Amino acid sequence: MKIAVLCILLCAWLPAQESSIAGAPSGLRCEYLADPVGIDVRQPRFSWVLEHSQRGQKQSAYQVLVSLKLEVAAGDQWDSGKVSSSQSVHVAYAGKPLGSGQTYYWKVRYWDSGDGASPYSSVARFETGLLEGADWKGKWIGGANQIRKEFTLISRPVRARAYIAGLGYYELRINGRKVGDRVLDPAWTTYDKRVLYSVYDITERLRQGPNAVAVMLGEGWFKSHALRIEIHAELEGGQSVDVATDPSWKTMSGPIQSDSVYNGEVYDARLEAPGWDRAGFDDAHWKPATLIEGPKGALSAQMMPPIRVVETLVPLKLTSPHPGVYIYDLGQNISGVMQIRVTGPRGTRVQLRHAELLYDDGTLNVENLQEAKATDVYILRGDGSDEVYQPRFTYHGFRYVELTGYPGTPKFDTLRAKVVHSDVKPAGGFTSSKQILNQIQRNILWGIQDNLESIPTDCNQRNERMGWMADAHLYAETAMLNFDMPAFYTNFLRDIRDVQGADGTVTDTVPHRYGSRPADPAWGMAYPLLTWYMYEYYGDRRILEQHFDGVKAWTDFLRTRSHAGILDYSYYGDWVPIEKTPGNLVSTICYYWSADLVSRMAEILGKSVDADAYRKLAAGIKDAFNGKFLNPESGVYGTGSQTAQILPLFLNMAPEGKRGGMLGALRDDIVYTRNTHLTTGILGTKYLFPLLTRTDNSDLAYELATQTTYPSWGYMVENGATTLWELWQNKTGPSMNSHNHPMFGSIGAWFYNALAGINPDPDKPGFERIVIAPQVVRDLQWAAGSLDTIRGRVSSSWRRADDGLRLEVSIPVGSEAEVRIPKLGMAAAGLSESGRIVWKDGHFQSGASGITSVKDDAGVLTVRVGSGDYAFGLKRE
Ligand code: BGC
Repeated sequence: MKIAVLCILLCAWLPAQESSIAGAPSGLRCEYLADPVGIDVRQPRFSWVLEHSQRGQKQSAYQVLVSLKLEVAAGDQWDSGKVSSSQSVHVAYAGKPLGSGQTYYWKVRYWDSGDGASPYSSVARFETGLLEGADWKGKWIGGANQIRKEFTLISRPVRARAYIAGLGYYELRINGRKVGDRVLDPAWTTYDKRVLYSVYDITERLRQGPNAVAVMLGEGWFKSHALRIEIHAELEGGQSVDVATDPSWKTMSGPIQSDSVYNGEVYDARLEAPGWDRAGFDDAHWKPATLIEGPKGALSAQMMPPIRVVETLVPLKLTSPHPGVYIYDLGQNISGVMQIRVTGPRGTRVQLRHAELLYDDGTLNVENLQEAKATDVYILRGDGSDEVYQPRFTYHGFRYVELTGYPGTPKFDTLRAKVVHSDVKPAGGFTSSKQILNQIQRNILWGIQDNLESIPTDCNQRNERMGWMADAHLYAETAMLNFDMPAFYTNFLRDIRDVQGADGTVTDTVPHRYGSRPADPAWGMAYPLLTWYMYEYYGDRRILEQHFDGVKAWTDFLRTRSHAGILDYSYYGDWVPIEKTPGNLVSTICYYWSADLVSRMAEILGKSVDADAYRKLAAGIKDAFNGKFLNPESGVYGTGSQTAQILPLFLNMAPEGKRGGMLGALRDDIVYTRNTHLTTGILGTKYLFPLLTRTDNSDLAYELATQTTYPSWGYMVENGATTLWELWQNKTGPSMNSHNHPMFGSIGAWFYNALAGINPDPDKPGFERIVIAPQVVRDLQWAAGSLDTIRGRVSSSWRRADDGLRLEVSIPVGSEAEVRIPKLGMAAAGLSESGRIVWKDGHFQSGASGITSVKDDAGVLTVRVGSGDYAFGLKRE
């Protein structure tokens, strides 16, 4: 009672206090990264998440302060002032020019719709890398796989940084210990165009007196050794010291006898030189490092989540099919390496082989690894101590490990699995009442993360692991709905631009090793599509600006190869299908789609001449396409394959009058001819699901998604898959059959978009407007999805109830949503929100905070809401 009185008293005061309900902005990001160390963008962009306790809230203004001092208050580098704007993501720095190697502190506050000011956020930071080429004093040096240097500091360091580009891979060690937790660094790039460097804060690692910096080098994708380092240390007393690579560094080969991404590592611990990474080591017999020309590429800061050991797994099973041969089963296909713990006589050679499969007799089946040896060897030091070895410069794709040469009988804990991939954080979650979907979702998550190895790879096990471009765009949306991907794809888009030729061509793989130039048109689609997804999912207009010319040049190239609107060249088309689709049909669609995307991008960027020209180009291609591939008698495309219907229907290329018939034929083929199975390859598969949902066929999409007989995802699961296969078929021989190929993971986006119902709206990209449209299908009892967008968390979860449906939705502050609630066939349905009626007798009942309208759109109640958490209840009236 007393509390209520107090509340009434306080509430009388409230107008003056109103600002207190606008919470301090959280989740501060700079160029998509939290507190990045080493960025080289001159006008980095800031994003923050708005917090507010009221529904339907937006930002009306913001203020950003940037300072060289931790207190920030002064905003001595930039004080944006109070800027009237709803923009809370990608606000570009517009202060004093940024200096090299500086730490900047920043914070932000905002004003809500009622002009109530929030408190300031907590202080975030970003640190610049070396912004000018001339800032690099270090030279490229080469030599054996160990390089070292000692130096003396006359007083204690107060701030020290190491800038390192070490190719193929490096391990940086200072005063006896590894620096940082990155592995397989730096990211793989087109080294002639670009080499990435990493920045480490080494203040705590250096000390007054003698210091040693030591680097181990691996071959990586560079297949050679090249090192460039720059250490800047500011000392107590004001002096500063630079240590940089030059021929005074010393080199000697170390215990790593050979290393290769595909084949593994051979490590002879007898060749370790104890103390080589500490000051005072006698390196008189080491050779001087040599100055080398080095890779031609520009040095750029690596601005994405690095590769790390992300997780450690304990094997689930240990068997011994033959004496001395031990097989460990992780129960999961992973990317990574094994760590071994062993004691034994000097010179004992212990071998680890990795594979995805076993033969029936329990021995290792390495046939599908093709040329990749995937073998690590450790040769014991044998000094009586516990020896622990974990390969540094390789990774394998495997579930099973064969251990041989072990001195004695190995135990379960002899081996540990280290899961290694780009450390993108989980950003989403999907789960449902249908177990098979949850298992597929799990396989998708493993499959994708296993294939994020600084670039999106096709597979993780055989001698390939390339940035195949179709694979990349096919699983990109699923990746974006499950992981925090924008920095990763920003980097990959730059990788694509780096391979682009003066003639506009891009390549099948990026960086380009396998496949052709020009790329198959469906592979080259990665360039326009990934650019577009960055806009759609993250509202990134700068990406559109940066890649518009490149995407246009690729489209122009396709034009030079086309004849009367038809693009004939194709290598792979709708790859690995059950039923083939003509290559020129697929290529022409991709040509159309590229032109269409160029026109849409031009529209957004205000380039009206281009927008017009490419719209016309697309229209012309569409006509040519229909003229050539649409059979006027049967009313179907091409040979009638599912993919040949799906793609033009999905892209609205089919003449309007024919769409119904074509869709009917597609449905008939799936349901009757194929007994509810798809026959699609990687392209058709992706677009089949959104097409079915868009055309009110979600029930059928669900049946396909939960199918467990061949061909289907469920068939993979039933056959023991823990990731996704490359083929619908269950193959295990030496032919092409990877068991970890994420491209069919495209269906994962449909779980979010359709089953949970979370969709971005490209008209207000980056989830500023959201469409929540859950599909309540067949026997599905409930589904739930959530996604941490750049604007904050979006979630949608529904459950059937005896009398209707419950749906809970969260929309971030600053965003708005259209929530489409299916009436489940009820003639008359009422809708409540948190117990309050919002739709009754066919009319909107206003008054619920945050809800601006409810309409009945052909069996679906469409509710317009602002930010906030909502709990809807649909009931028969
Ligand atoms: C890769 C694919 C790739 C294809 C090109 C294969 O070897 O593993 O995923 O897209 O080649 O057709």
